[in-house]
Amino acid sequence: MHSCVCLVALVALGAAGCAAQPRGRILGGQEANAHSYPYMASVQVNGTHVCGGTLVDERWVLSAAHCMDGVTSDDILQVLLGAHSLSKPEPSKQLHDVQSVVRHPGSGPDRIEDDIALLKLTQNVSLGPYVSPLPLQDEVRDLAPGTLCDVAGWGVVSHAGRRPDVLQKLTVPIMDRNTCNLRVHHDGAVTQNMICTESHRRDSCRGDSGGPLVCGDVVEGIVAWGSRVCGNRRRPGVYTSVSTYKDWIKNAMNDDLTG
Ligand code: ARG
Repeated sequence: MHSCVCLVALVALGAAGCAAQPRGRILGGQEANAHSYPYMASVQVNGTHVCGGTLVDERWVLSAAHCMDGVTSDDILQVLLGAHSLSKPEPSKQLHDVQSVVRHPGSGPDRIEDDIALLKLTQNVSLGPYVSPLPLQDEVRDLAPGTLCDVAGWGVVSHAGRRPDVLQKLTVPIMDRNTCNLRVHHDGAVTQNMICTESHRRDSCRGDSGGPLVCGDVVEGIVAWGSRVCGNRRRPGVYTSVSTYKDWIKNAMNDDLTG
């Protein structure tokens, strides 16, 4: 809470005080062109956005396992598709109930590994220009450092935790894993199943988790973890690498016997 809000009292400091506080924002982020990410999902618990997700086919949404931490069968779990604004009525919106969650067994509340989950919807979505799936990256190889990828989400846009109403997007460069694992960065915590992006003033943040990292025309990563103070260059953004989980994803979608 030590953001610009507190500085309001110190009017003498002027606007520069705020301008010098870029941390914690999805910096460099901007409002997405409405419906330019038709696979983008808002995962909602009891009517509130908690995480992002990616529509991967008519019935399934890919997200992060940690998005499901603390969610119980008493909660109403839904997925909003075709949205730009979370609050305004939009004819393109489809709100779907989640029938079942397949969480990666290697994930856990205190773990950063295997941060991937699949949400099965109760009904097929109706596909169209505003709601359409994004293919998974199925080639297992590291992207060249510097490759530009897009991340989108309704996660917080200020250090104070301000939530945007409309979808935000950001373009971020891939960071090489060895660099990311240097002591000054994530000190060896980043496994082969994770992808890093540079986080200098531009970063995903709280509420973006589960959403897609899109490189080219495929979902390459899932927003997973990073700096608690988003936008800290020393703590790159970390994404679950989708291609390394392609077999798990395919099996989860096929083995699902819940109907
Ligand atoms: N874990 C966070 C979430 O629940 C977002 C992680 C991304 N953080 C970052 N600094 N890139 O939404």
